[in-house]
Amino acid sequence: MAEIAPSILAADFANLQRDVEMINNSSAGYIHVDIMDGMFVPNISFGLPVCEAIHRHAKKPLDVHLMIEQPDRYLEAFRNAGASGITVHYEACPHLHRTIQHIKELGAEPGVALNPHTPVEVLSEIMGDVSLILIMSVNPGFGGQKFIENTYKKIATLDRYRKEFGYNFKIEVDGGVNLNNAPRLVREGVDILVAGSFVFTSPDPAKTIAELGNS
Ligand code: DX5
Ligand code: ZN
Repeated sequence: MAEIAPSILAADFANLQRDVEMINNSSAGYIHVDIMDGMFVPNISFGLPVCEAIHRHAKKPLDVHLMIEQPDRYLEAFRNAGASGITVHYEACPHLHRTIQHIKELGAEPGVALNPHTPVEVLSEIMGDVSLILIMSVNPGFGGQKFIENTYKKIATLDRYRKEFGYNFKIEVDGGVNLNNAPRLVREGVDILVAGSFVFTSPDPAKTIAELGNS
């Protein structure tokens, strides 16, 4: 069993309210909101006004994934735009400890994300301070990419750390998640599955969310 965070990046942006309501009426635990700046990642998604608009209709907490350079500049703005959890990239934060404390001070759940090439061990000194560790299972920037198999190993290592030291962070995986890889991801220790294109291209997205949740 896992919680599901459908990624709104794969929604129909001309029908955002409809797609947010589909998520509201599903068994999803969160709405995953991908923010891309065209700098940290080679794509631009959407920004604060859209996040705010999603929040106005959302009945599930917003899990905001910042794929942006210098995220410190925007933490407060995303908190004000309705973020419940704010996840920054390890690779974008030279002062990660300070950034995490700032997210906590704003009253949001702090998360940190790792690109596929970044080993989980780099987080050893911050694992006790975060609510969430997001393992990217594709190179961030686009939906609809192929799942990277090495992710299983990273999840297993992270879960071992968590058990060994008694940490409480949740493990989230993001990119290329579908019904084929979800069961093994959950077995290795994943708590939250992000799924974009697999949910939104399926004939019955709410049913797909439920099926993924039963993985
Ligand atoms: C990728 C984003 C993901 C993306 C996942 O950079 O962080 O959240 O929306 O989409 P799928 O599930 O289509 O790989
Ligand atoms: Zn994401």
